[in-house]
Amino acid sequence: MADLRVNVAGVEFKNPVIPASGAFGYGREYEAFYPLSKLGGLSIKGTTLEPRQGNPGPRVAETPSGMLNSVGLQNGGLEKFLSYELPNLVTKDTRIIANIAGATIEDCAELAGRLNGTAVDMIELNISCPNVKHGGAAFGTSCESASAITAAVRKASDKPLMVKLSPNVTSIADIAKAVEAEGADAVSLINTLLGMRIDIKTGRPILKNNVGGLSGPAVFPVAVRMVWQVANAVKIPVMGMGGISTWEDAVEMMMAGASAIQIGAALFSNPYAPVEIIDGLNKYCDDNNIKCISDIVGTVKPW
Ligand code: FUM
Repeated sequence: MADLRVNVAGVEFKNPVIPASGAFGYGREYEAFYPLSKLGGLSIKGTTLEPRQGNPGPRVAETPSGMLNSVGLQNGGLEKFLSYELPNLVTKDTRIIANIAGATIEDCAELAGRLNGTAVDMIELNISCPNVKHGGAAFGTSCESASAITAAVRKASDKPLMVKLSPNVTSIADIAKAVEAEGADAVSLINTLLGMRIDIKTGRPILKNNVGGLSGPAVFPVAVRMVWQVANAVKIPVMGMGGISTWEDAVEMMMAGASAIQIGAALFSNPYAPVEIIDGLNKYCDDNNIKCISDIVGTVKPW
């Protein structure tokens, strides 16, 4: 058996496979399929200071090789996470990444500060949600605002800080460099690509929010390209995500420069995707005489 451990920003994960925020809840439903201890970690649903109902439906639509969502950060709020979800998660022997989001810089700094001293292993600051009017992607689409929010959260938090980046920008590498300069310990990418579908019978957008975020295999090549560009632009580690559904995708994403990977939309059609990917990575390493999975990170040989 190969050594699948990876280290991201000083946090050791037992393997590089992590269900992505928003696709796995807090793991409760998935425990019917396998113990959460099999996973490298999990990133919780984007958590805000106060509970949120999210956007009105319909807020999910199928697309060729993917899906659109405009959930709008529905979640139970920080207090519920701390009192109900976190005490359960700490018993699961896996790393806990707290994905946090807010409408203002102050909200995000307060969220981060209130996670100090808890069992959360890492913060994933979401500056890339395309489905909310205030905050979200608005923070992640300019270097100035990305820098400002990263600096404030860095100051408030004593946890390793990973910033989740938006692909809906001209240069994601520039945004990554901006957050690195303000103290981010890692970046994760890509969040969803802004998309739209229209019902041709009614002439109305399928999503009540009109637009939403595209994820799934359709976005995978975009994600690989962006992870490669960012990994070559920054010194901090990169967590790669966007359309990964097989162990082959995971290897490709790691070769592009991802130290670990997150699985999102694939979970909705195959809840076993993370454990199948872990098994596939083990076999890939054994078949290719690779002792440590981290040895493949960034090994792509560009022409
Ligand atoms: O709408 C949502 O809850 C999605 C969040 C995100 O993409 O970050």
